Amino acid sequence: MSLQIAIDGPAASGKGTLAKTLAMALGYDYLDTGTLYRAVAKLAADAGLVHPDGSFTETDIVEIARNLTLPLGNSDGLRTSEIAQIASKIASNIAVREALIDKQRQFAKTPPNGKGAVLDGRDIGTVILPDADLKLYIDADVEVRAKRRFLELSAKDETISQAQILADLIERDTRDKTRKTAPLIPAPDAQIIDTSEMSAQEVLEIAVNLVKRL
Ligand code: CDP
Repeated sequence: MSLQIAIDGPAASGKGTLAKTLAMALGYDYLDTGTLYRAVAKLAADAGLVHPDGSFTETDIVEIARNLTLPLGNSDGLRTSEIAQIASKIASNIAVREALIDKQRQFAKTPPNGKGAVLDGRDIGTVILPDADLKLYIDADVEVRAKRRFLELSAKDETISQAQILADLIERDTRDKTRKTAPLIPAPDAQIIDTSEMSAQEVLEIAVNLVKRL
């Protein structure tokens, strides 16, 4: 069986950067599970199914989630602050999460190149792949994360202040950590890495060394 690596952590902690570069270094396939929730959020928002207060009708959103197929096609417009907030609200819904579980497990079980899979998200080590070969929980100081996300969004011309990003991250993290279904929490057997004072390269080296010891 091919190897499975689970990477979880709060928003803008560096888990996506690590997951992508680690998969590339190992020749594994990478699944950013946040894009699944973001894609459902965008499809729902575009169809007018999300009310201004963020509420929605469960059956509408579950149907969108069920119909999602991997690999996702067009990812344009998914990485905005607005879609992130809607994604986080939708991700609190148990039926929506259930509709996405098998798609993620299937990817991990049969990654396209057959060598191994790296999945990143919030519940990979706890719910999706409880038997993953390696579990990492990537964290960083919230101010550092807001700065990183500010630089990412500014580069894409999204006009949003760092203070607003900080407020959005805190709101989203709180929702993700306190929801009843699959809350963001380190798996008991996860290795916790605080990347506040580390470069992306340093984090990658730590992860590669952990994989070598498997
Ligand atoms: O990139 P960032 O860390 O800001 O967010 P993301 O990983 O794209 O996830 C967007 C939202 O989807 C999160 O705030 C979570 O609410 C939700 N999500 C989740 O619940 N479970 C996952 N495995 C991945 C994302």
